[in-house]
Amino acid sequence: MSIVITGASGRLGRFIIKELLHHVQPDQIVACVRQMESAASLEEQGIAVRFCNYDEPASLKEAFAGASRLLFISSPHPDDTVRLRQHAHVIEAAKKANVGHILYTGFAFPEHSDISMTHLHLATEHAIRTTGIPYTFLRSGLYMDFIEALDLHAAISTGNLRVHPGSWQFNAVTRSDLAAAIAGVLSVEGHSNKTYELVAPAVWSFDNVVSTLSELTGKPISLCPINEVQHWIFSFLRKIDTASTSGDLEHLLGRPVTPLIESLRSYIGASQI
Ligand SMILES: NC(=O)c1ccc[n+]([C@@H]2O[C@H](COP(=O)([O-])OP(=O)(O)OC[C@H]3O[C@@H](n4cnc5c(N)ncnc54)[C@H](OP(=O)(O)O)[C@@H]3O)[C@@H](O)[C@H]2O)c1
Repeated sequence: MSIVITGASGRLGRFIIKELLHHVQPDQIVACVRQMESAASLEEQGIAVRFCNYDEPASLKEAFAGASRLLFISSPHPDDTVRLRQHAHVIEAAKKANVGHILYTGFAFPEHSDISMTHLHLATEHAIRTTGIPYTFLRSGLYMDFIEALDLHAAISTGNLRVHPGSWQFNAVTRSDLAAAIAGVLSVEGHSNKTYELVAPAVWSFDNVVSTLSELTGKPISLCPINEVQHWIFSFLRKIDTASTSGDLEHLLGRPVTPLIESLRSYIGASQI
């Protein structure tokens, strides 16, 4: 079995490869990267590294040669129309290379939103279906990273977490949980033509964030919803589904997702505690 992974130099890709090494031998993994020098540590572990650029179709067919499974990590390009073209290149190359199975990391509950990002992910899933190749759609929840935009350190020093008003609820997840689940799916049979919503099984709120921060720091921290807080993240969050839940991620992990307190502990850093 040859598992070919795009975006292997990225944060999610690296986590997935680390997890995958618990399931398969290094010589069963092919890491596809844009800059070969970024993959020296993977090569040292016995993982084959191939050049791949979503903008260069010829590179993709060569990169995907012999793949029994292709893990296609979505492009991070900021323009979704460009991403659509890049993704079409990947899918066409997968078909030409006779890839055995395509696993795609999209975004959770894309049908619940009407923005270019969710249309891009749905369009990519539909395009993958046109190939007739068995697929698995790994729809990732919002990365927990978004809370970095809230300036938790300022909240700790001032005692106030300033947010835009709203009844916010979050099904966000850590990349490490996503990676563990995706690595598990990649390494066994039985996931053909399945769609997984990889989100938390229960939502948390900003009230939960302040009470958890208070617990971690031993300092009282209050939630301060005010209209003056106009960070772009709030307008983005309003447009996507951050409240629907699913048991798919925990089911694939075979354990609970990382609790909010552990995520916050790592974001604020041990020195704060
Ligand atoms: N669910 C969420 O909340 C969320 C948030 C942000 C992004 N995402 C999506 O999830 C994906 C993975 O996340 P991540 O954190 O691993 O992102 P990341 O750290 O930015 O990694 C992106 C990967 O894509 C590669 N890449 C970029 N352009 C490419 C191209 N033209 N051809 C081939 N490879 C290319 C990068 O290679 P280089 O190292 O050469 O740049 C890198 O390996 C992102 O790409 C994005 O689509 C999801």
